[in-house]
Amino acid sequence: MTHSPAVAFDPNDLESKVKAMYRAVADDPHGEFHFEMGRTLAERLGYIPADLDRIPAEAIESFAGVGHYFHLADLKRGETVIDLGSGSGMDSFIASLKVGPTGNVIGVDMTDEQRSKAERLRFRDAFNNIRYLKGYIDRVPLANGMADAVISNGVINLAPDKNKVFLEAARLLRPGGRLALADIVTESELPQSIVCNSTLWAACIGGAAQKDRYRRYIEDAGLRVVTIEDNDAYRFISDNAKAASHKFGVKSVSVLASKP
Ligand SMILES: C[S@@+](CC[C@H](N)C(=O)[O-])C[C@H]1O[C@@H](n2cnc3c(N)ncnc32)[C@H](O)[C@@H]1O
Repeated sequence: MTHSPAVAFDPNDLESKVKAMYRAVADDPHGEFHFEMGRTLAERLGYIPADLDRIPAEAIESFAGVGHYFHLADLKRGETVIDLGSGSGMDSFIASLKVGPTGNVIGVDMTDEQRSKAERLRFRDAFNNIRYLKGYIDRVPLANGMADAVISNGVINLAPDKNKVFLEAARLLRPGGRLALADIVTESELPQSIVCNSTLWAACIGGAAQKDRYRRYIEDAGLRVVTIEDNDAYRFISDNAKAASHKFGVKSVSVLASKP
């Protein structure tokens, strides 16, 4: 078993910084962030414009994902999908289109403002196959083996214990189910000066795991890695974030893994 490196700051402080950042993402998507958001980003990452046209524009405005992975997820009509860290809901709306009225999508997020925005849009636009749950991605209040697919975008890097998150994804998947995600990893291990900066952590940099270590976390959870692709179209925008990204090879990847 590979253990996540110790986090040298208070996890409660980290949680409140992450919640504050993503509360702003929900409520003020045109504010200033270390990262890009919205439709231009989504299209550059590979989201299909015709799909984006069919989902709430407000969810797209608050899209803070880091890559596209729906081509890997290959969601089918009637499937059950769990979105870990569903934010303002963009990926759960796209998943809803793919699984259709006989399928189900369950978004899990700890930040109330993100979840309530997604919930309001879901209700307004009658996306009746989606529900949102308040919860943490390392202890999801759902039954073993209930998901055909677990998806996640830009979230697992924020978790101090990534082992626990991948074990939880594996628990939620049925045998033969798949995990498809986009996330931030690094080429080289980050120095403590970056790991211990909770603001950079909340901006999806400080918590990024080295890419081989990230792969081991997935495999240690009992999942088989099928593919890992670089998302070259993703870039950070603040000077601080750009510098760290350049120096340590902080980058976005999309991953497909399956549960044997
Ligand atoms: C970078 S945003 C991405 C949101 C969404 N996936 C998207 O693509 O727009 C990260 C989201 O993960 C949520 N989050 C971070 N850590 C979490 C945790 N441990 N448990 C539940 N949600 C978490 C945050 O509240 C935030 O909404």
